[in-house]
Amino acid sequence: MTQHRPITVIDLGGQYAHLIAAKFRGLGYHAVIADPEAPLSEIAKSCGVVLSGSPSLSAYDEDGSAVRRILDLPLPILGFCFGHQEIAKHYGGAVIHGQPEYGPSTLTITRESPIFRGVPEKSIVFMSHGDTVTSVGPCFHELGTSAAGDGPVHRFAAIADEERRRWGFQYHPEVDDSVFGHVMLGNFAELCGCEKTWDAAHLLPEKLEAIRRDAAGRDVFLLVSGGVDSSVVAELLLQALPPERVHMLHVDTGFMRDEESAEVRRLFEDRVGARFHFVDASPRFFTALSGVVAPEEKRRIIGELFVTVCEEEMSRLNLSDALLAQGTIYPDTIESGGTRRAHVIKTHHNRVPLIEEMIRAGRVLEPVADLYKKEVRDLGRALGLPAAWIDRHPFPGPGLAVRVLCSDGTVPAELAEVQAGVDAASWPAGTCATVLPLRSVGVKADLRSYELPLCLSGPRPDEGLVASRLKSLSGINRLVWNLGPALGQSRVVPGTCTPGRVRTLQRADAVVTRELRAQGLMEAVWQFPVVLLPLSFTDDPDGCAIVLRPVSSERGMTARVPRLPQAFHDAVVPGILAIPHVTAVLLDLSTKPPGTIEWE
Ligand code: XMP
Repeated sequence: MTQHRPITVIDLGGQYAHLIAAKFRGLGYHAVIADPEAPLSEIAKSCGVVLSGSPSLSAYDEDGSAVRRILDLPLPILGFCFGHQEIAKHYGGAVIHGQPEYGPSTLTITRESPIFRGVPEKSIVFMSHGDTVTSVGPCFHELGTSAAGDGPVHRFAAIADEERRRWGFQYHPEVDDSVFGHVMLGNFAELCGCEKTWDAAHLLPEKLEAIRRDAAGRDVFLLVSGGVDSSVVAELLLQALPPERVHMLHVDTGFMRDEESAEVRRLFEDRVGARFHFVDASPRFFTALSGVVAPEEKRRIIGELFVTVCEEEMSRLNLSDALLAQGTIYPDTIESGGTRRAHVIKTHHNRVPLIEEMIRAGRVLEPVADLYKKEVRDLGRALGLPAAWIDRHPFPGPGLAVRVLCSDGTVPAELAEVQAGVDAASWPAGTCATVLPLRSVGVKADLRSYELPLCLSGPRPDEGLVASRLKSLSGINRLVWNLGPALGQSRVVPGTCTPGRVRTLQRADAVVTRELRAQGLMEAVWQFPVVLLPLSFTDDPDGCAIVLRPVSSERGMTARVPRLPQAFHDAVVPGILAIPHVTAVLLDLSTKPPGTIEWE
């Protein structure tokens, strides 16, 4: 079996640690993330180490001792931002608080180094730091300086002691804005002697062998949702283990997409026969959510009930001692890689206390826990899974329950004040701008915001207008645009996650998915939530509005709105308006931030 000696990325708390590992893997090198306190013997198995940035100087590691013991390892080490400053300090240099740089800057290479092979003398790099290296120790050299536009020159943007194999970059080569960043990362991997062994074809036999080893002689019980991750794990288990050892369960919570549970059932019954189990727990989920309005409360109830149902099934099937297999992927397991709700997401299905306990007892098998979505998809292709399973969009664990917005009928107290601010702004001719009477979640200045959406009717607002209004209007965190006929006044309609409202959303979602496939647009969007709002724009007392939320994103941390062809809107809008009780179809034009991908 090939031994990948990985590059270990030490996560010092910076938001990009996750991205550093992803970039190395994208280049074909195996990279893992570790805490600074990880056993040195583990870190020492790497072919090289990268020290990530940190949100604030010394915030993570007050006395620097964890980083210092890593720096004493006889391995090539490269530090970014805070990691760069730690390297400078450790070897006799100085760091001061001040001379901050944010955003793009020009790096000028002032001394030749193999780390810059293939990088032009001047290139754009991305900066985000408040502390600065002001001198380096005896064996270190300055490799480059930086300056934003014709601003002041910052010394020590890149430093090295080539003998000792230590390099430091003040900038972040891992972000796309650092134009030659990937070249520098590739150079480091080569300097480490790291081999390009990271691809799905190499990975597959290793994954199969690891499963055979970890599950030797045991039954395995897998929860399949129908999503890419658990489908890939299912296929891995089926190819690795004797068929009689592999048991699967799909729980229909009632919040799956239209026909999705039936489809999962068909596919897996065909593939695994009697060892595939199916529970329709939807009545229990609907009862548990009856009358519940608060989003986090909904998530908690769904998460807990889900685990209860699974436990009951394992015990009923006499499989309580089986290994529990899960389709957990890398971003689910590390805090820095998740969304702002990563904690909630993690505790949802695969990191609830009961599962944590099973992990400690060695009873959980997570064969793709070291992979990212893209790599899981590559593995799925190598396994021969049908494209229709691989191109599925990420889907939140609590399913459509977090896309059916609930209300007790209360109108937000700040509505009139926010509308007054909107009225005071100027708008393109023919535009009507109305604040909608409900709140949704967003993210502003790294904090969750719970604010109102602004609805525009008239000509489609361009990206610039959307961005400037989302920035300037107080109390607004989303902007939607009316895709249907002129709208009347909106009213808040009380409603929770009832079978009827979920059914309405399933039908609207099905119209969108069908048309995305028909027009070959599945890959043009990363995710396409369809959301039901408790708002009626007609005199229908049970009326609702449907929001289309197509987004482009790489990892869900930020999102842009792709412009879909007019033919797509022309096809879906009448189809959705024909669903009983739908009184409006709106397109969410908000970027993340300040909107989030989901509305709650
Ligand atoms: P937001 O809405 O924070 O979403 O921009 C980012 C990504 O996370 C997904 N998401 C969830 N996934 N349980 C999940 O398993 C949840 O409660 C949850 N909330 C959001 C969302 O679909 C997007 O991919």
